[in-house]
Parts: sequence; C-alpha cells; structure tokens
Amino acid sequence: MSKYFKAKTVDNISLNKHFRLLNLSPLSDIDIPQPGQFYMLQTGDTCDPLLKRPFSIFRHEENSLSFLYRIRGKGTLSLSRLKSGDIINAIGPLGNSYPVPDGDFIALAGGIGIASLLPLMRKFKERAYLFYGARSKEELVMMDEAKAVSKESFITTDDGSEGKKGLITDSLMKFFNSLPITHHPLPLYACGPTPMLRELYRIIKSKIQNPKSQIIECYVSMEEYMACGVGVCLGCVVKVRSQEPVDSSQKWIYKRVCKEGPVFDIKDIIWE
Ligand SMILES: Cc1cc2nc3c(=O)[nH]c(=O)nc-3n(C[C@H](O)[C@H](O)[C@H](O)COP(=O)(O)OP(=O)(O)OC[C@H]3O[C@@H](n4cnc5c(N)ncnc54)[C@H](O)[C@@H]3O)c2cc1C
Ligand code: FES
Repeated sequence: MSKYFKAKTVDNISLNKHFRLLNLSPLSDIDIPQPGQFYMLQTGDTCDPLLKRPFSIFRHEENSLSFLYRIRGKGTLSLSRLKSGDIINAIGPLGNSYPVPDGDFIALAGGIGIASLLPLMRKFKERAYLFYGARSKEELVMMDEAKAVSKESFITTDDGSEGKKGLITDSLMKFFNSLPITHHPLPLYACGPTPMLRELYRIIKSKIQNPKSQIIECYVSMEEYMACGVGVCLGCVVKVRSQEPVDSSQKWIYKRVCKEGPVFDIKDIIWE
C-alpha cells in the first residue's frame, strides 16, 4: 500500500491554548500504524511552510487517524487552522515502533512525549507504570486517559501546579530505589525532550549494564528535526554506537531517526 495519501480533516479540537487533537479520515486504504510510528503531515495549504512536519500516531481506528500536537511554530500554527472538510497530504506510517513489552513496563513521558507513548499504554492496558512530567498543569494533556490505562501513575510538574514539584526523572529514580532487588526487570519506554532522555541515560547507565538490576531494556523515541521523513535528506541523523567499527578510530555511525528510528535502544545512542 502506498504511504502517500490524502486525508480529510474530520475535526481539529482545541484542548487548551497549547494543545490540539487533529482527527483525519484517509481518502484511500492505509497500512495499520503501530505505537511509536509517525506520519509526515502537510500543515497548511500554501508553500509556507513548505515541508511537512512529523507527528506520532496518537490513535488509529477504522478509517480514522488522530494526532495530538502542541503548537510550537509556523507549521503547527498552520495545522491548528485546519477546518473540518479540509484535505491534506500525509505520508505514513513511518519509522519503526516500540518493541512489544513482555509483561509490565515503565512509560516515561515528558510533555508532548505522551502522544507517542499513550498508544502503547492503551494497547497493553494496566501494564504501564506511568511517569509523566511537564512544566505546569496546563501542559499535562490527556491525563485522565493516561491514568486510566496505567497500572500506577506518577506525575510531576516543574512549578508544582500538579503532582509532585520537580523533575520526572527524579521520581523515576526514587521508584527504582524503592524496588526490591528481586523485582522482575521492567522494560522502559521513553519519549520527551532530549535533556530528559539524556538524564534518563545518566540514571540508568549502570543498571542496564547490570544483569541483576530492575531494568535491563530501555527504548527511547527521538524527536529530531525532520525535513523529508523518508530517509533521503539525512537531516535527522543521530550518532549511534557502531556494532562493527568502520576502523579502529570510528566507534560510531550516523543513523536516520526517520528510517532506522524513531525508537532506539538507549545504550546505542551516543549522548554527548
Ligand atoms: C518522530 C517525531 C514524532 C513527533 N510527534 C509529535 C507529536 O505527536 N505531537 C507534537 O506536538 N509534536 C511532535 N513532534 C514534534 C513536531 O514535529 C514539532 O513540534 C513540529 O515539527 C514543529 O513544527 P513548527 O513548524 O510548528 O515549529 P518550528 O517553527 O519548526 O519550530 C518552533 C520551535 O519548536 C522547536 N522544534 C521544532 N521541531 C522540533 C522537534 N522535532 N523536537 C523538538 N523541538 C522542536 C524549535 O526548536 C523551535 O523552538 C514529533 C517529532 C518527531 C521527529
Ligand atoms: S528527515 Fe530526511 S532523512 Fe530523515
């Protein structure tokens, strides 16, 4: 099936001043998306912005695709102006998806990272320990649904307006420290700003190298800037440890987030 299709805007609901939920109805048959995959969406009906923007699949139902998005700049502002009946071009589903968790798992979401993780939590209901952090209460979206599909949830905001005041990675660290050493290892899935993912790596570095630790697998969805979304422009590369070094001096290679990602094993990424 072609990944290039046109879709009709069903509605484009404002959740608050920052966030919207866009519901599209594809005008042709499409492949079924998996949690973690994304689409490149045309954001307006002019050449400005020219490039499509990447958005994680938030929900897929028969003949309907939903995207949860935060208004940031030109593209997302233009997307927010789409009205019912407007037709846009889309490409997807693109990239890889989250590996299927075997039992319970941890979902770590920073801000709009929840858009990528909620489909996984919805699919494996009541199996996620959710750690969800944002700057303030109004930047926590889809909280009710996220809590409802979780086994347990831990919420933080930078300003303390909802949940505990502080960083979500601090809550995660406390959780790890409270687990008995005999606890069955939990795979961890994370999506959010790069500083959060970098801090996550710092916290769990020793744990993922220790076979007796409470987590052994950790997957992160990288939100790099993208131009083409289909592996052609090399605009989205990240440095990844090379399994087979090209020569003894180069222990890393570039991988494309849009093609080989967006989901990577955290220990493969070079966090500089
Ligand atoms: C695989 C993937 C999935 C994504 N899924 C979602 C999603 O489900 N919902 C959602 O709201 N956003 C998502 N994003 C981010 C979204 O693509 C960007 O917010 C969007 O492209 C911004 O376009 P713009 O024209 O509005 O902003 P621009 O004018 O391009 O930029 C405005 C501001 O946003 C920042 N910015 C732009 N792109 C990114 C990015 N990729 N990561 C971090 N900061 C960025 C810029 O630094 C700038 O400060 C995803 C990104 C990727 C790569
Ligand atoms: S966005 Fe062009 S190669 Fe990834």
